[in-house]
This record gives sequence, structure tokens and C-alpha cells, in this order.
Amino acid sequence: MEPPRRKITLFAAITLLAAACGGGSSSTSSPLDAVLEPIPPEPPIDTARAEEGARLYAQYCAACHGPDLEGDPDWKVPNADGSYPPPPHDSSGHTWHHPVPQLVELVLRGPRAPGSTMPRFDGTLDEAEVAAIIEYFRSTWGPEERAFNWRVTYEYTRSQGS
Ligand code: HEC
Repeated sequence: MEPPRRKITLFAAITLLAAACGGGSSSTSSPLDAVLEPIPPEPPIDTARAEEGARLYAQYCAACHGPDLEGDPDWKVPNADGSYPPPPHDSSGHTWHHPVPQLVELVLRGPRAPGSTMPRFDGTLDEAEVAAIIEYFRSTWGPEERAFNWRVTYEYTRSQGS
């Protein structure tokens, strides 16, 4: 039996994560795990899928998001038209804040910010290929970013009833 779900969980997670960010990412589990509702263990990285994802990333994404996931150095500074340059996908960005299924959907179909240069990929890549790219991102994140991402992914998936 699972304990009742508390609405505060995600907000608490974000607040605590912000507090934890100064501490570096050397620990193997998130400090959040000590204070939040227990969830199943984080799935290990699927290295074969992450390698496939890295190949697809180099082909379809690296031109904008950088060969090492570093993004545009000025990714936080809006362009003249109000759109934003491509963000990083490593631990320094905020891709890891989003549940994996939402990232897959975003890459395939959007939504895009107004003026965005990022194309839709649903005519080019299938869902499994985009999921492999996200697995590649995951393989580069520090333990705290991965633990946070697993928590929001787990909660999102549960809220969708799947
Ligand atoms: C032509 C340039 C371009 C290409 C190619 C591109 N992107 Fe983007 N991407 C952007 C821009 C610019 C943004 C900033 C947000 C926006 O404009 O919607 C973005 C945003 C994103 C975000 C949202 C990040 C966040 O934290 O909200 C994800 C995820 C993403 N891209 C993944 C990918 C993946 C995966 C590929 C390859 C399959 C890819 N992008 C290819 C330009 C690009």
C-alpha cells in the first residue's frame, strides 16, 4: 500500500533542491530522499540506449545545443525577438527539472516558445529514439539532478495513472 499523496511534495522538493544546490553533487543520494515520501529506487542508466541517444544527439541536436550539451553561453539572455538561445542539457541547464515523458513530448511536438528556432521532431525521430536521447542526458547528470529528475518523473507518471 502506498502512503497518501501529499500535494506539497513537489514544491518542497524544489525549495529543498534550491537549498541543496550550493552543496555540490558529490553524494550518491539526494538530501531530498531523507525528508520526502519514499519512492521506488531510480532505474539505472541503460548504457546501450544512452549510447544510441548520444549518436542521435550528435546528428540532430548538437548543432544548436552544443557538442557536449553545453548550450549557448548566453542561453539565459533573450534574443531581440524575445525568444531564447538553445539551453544546455547537462546539469548546468534545467532540462533535468522536467519529467522524462514531458521532455519526450516537447522534443517531438512542442510546445515551443514564440519565435523558437527548435524544430518539431515527430516527422524525423520516433518516441523511442527521443527517449534514448533523454537517457543520454540522464547519463551526464550528477546524482542530485538524476534523483530530482527521477522523483518528478515518477510523480508525473503516477499522476497520469500509468
Ligand atoms: C535549430 C536549433 C535547435 C535544434 C536543432 C534543437 N533544438 Fe532544442 N531548443 C532550441 C531552442 C532555441 C530552445 C529554447 C526553448 C525554445 O525556443 O522553445 C530549445 C529547447 C529545448 C528543450 C527544452 C529545455 C528546457 O529546459 O525547457 C529541450 C528538451 C530540447 N531543446 C531538446 C532538443 C533535442 C533533444 C534536440 C534534437 C533532437 C533539439 N533540442 C534540437 C533549439 C534547437
